Amino acid sequence: MKRILVTGANKGIGLAIVEGILLEHDDCHVFLGARDPARGAAARESLSGSNSDWSERVEVLELDVTSDASLERAATALCASAGDESQPLFGLVNNAGTAEGSLAEVLEVNTYGMHRVCETMLPLLQDGGRVVNVTSASGPNFVSECSADQQQFLLDPELDWSRLDAFMRECLTLGEDEFAARGLGSGASYGLSKACANAYSQSLARAHPRLVINACTPGFIETDLTRQLAHSSGRSPQELGLKSPAEGARVVLFLLFGDPEGSGHYYGSDCRRSPLDRYRAPGTPAYRGQ
Ligand SMILES: NC(=O)c1ccc[n+]([C@@H]2O[C@H](COP(=O)([O-])OP(=O)(O)OC[C@H]3O[C@@H](n4cnc5c(N)ncnc54)[C@H](OP(=O)(O)O)[C@@H]3O)[C@@H](O)[C@H]2O)c1
Repeated sequence: MKRILVTGANKGIGLAIVEGILLEHDDCHVFLGARDPARGAAARESLSGSNSDWSERVEVLELDVTSDASLERAATALCASAGDESQPLFGLVNNAGTAEGSLAEVLEVNTYGMHRVCETMLPLLQDGGRVVNVTSASGPNFVSECSADQQQFLLDPELDWSRLDAFMRECLTLGEDEFAARGLGSGASYGLSKACANAYSQSLARAHPRLVINACTPGFIETDLTRQLAHSSGRSPQELGLKSPAEGARVVLFLLFGDPEGSGHYYGSDCRRSPLDRYRAPGTPAYRGQ
């Protein structure tokens, strides 16, 4: 039995990842992470409505990525459910994310939240286990607008969490008009948080050679995170080229069960490797590294 935890799984791409795992992998048990247990229960109910056999294979795990206490409780509940095996998890999908709020709020979920989940959950992963960090093409887009020095910093394979943390803390002190002067483009909160999440994924993989850790963008997907964008542009999701959550889950399923080339890389929604400093459109040749 392969146990997999997906964070932020009560809706959107996270829920589609859970559904994809249940549909395609009979040998998997999924912990459906949700910060609100009622929203988690409703999501589990919707899955059981599609296939009653799934109810035994999905468990709601209350989990708020901004709270150490919540994560500790989640880890304890997960271990108890797994019969107190020392390394009960095969996979971890860091999917929870937000595009709303101040830079501090966005970093707290997208980057510090990812780090918090990994600090708590990585010891529970078995050797060869998979970690998939759902970041975004906004990360490489952000890096592409940075100065050469800032690019070198964010792409440095030796960059560790303490230096990245110091960098994010410094960003939090900057006024809106100071980002450009520091070589950080427009300082867009979401892109900055995802560029840092990509940098973190790279360093995490280096620190944990026993695991297979990769990041990815799901593509441009119709969810609550993007729907507002479509609404405000006056165009329909189809006109904007938004795809379904199931299509967004594809690359995550590939990184969980497929054969990615190693660890510490970033993948596009077409399951091909992509660079961290510029956008690569789906369907174009894979990035081959430096
Ligand atoms: N949609 C896209 O086009 C797109 C593109 C690139 C990357 N992504 C990334 O894909 C991931 C999923 O996004 P989505 O589009 O599916 O958005 P979504 O529908 O808004 O789902 C976001 C999920 O994250 C959860 N979440 C937010 N804050 C949390 C917290 N503090 N603790 C635990 N869970 C939390 C939400 O829970 P609640 O329901 O309780 O709010 C929800 O389950 C995100 O990391 C996003 O940045 C999306």
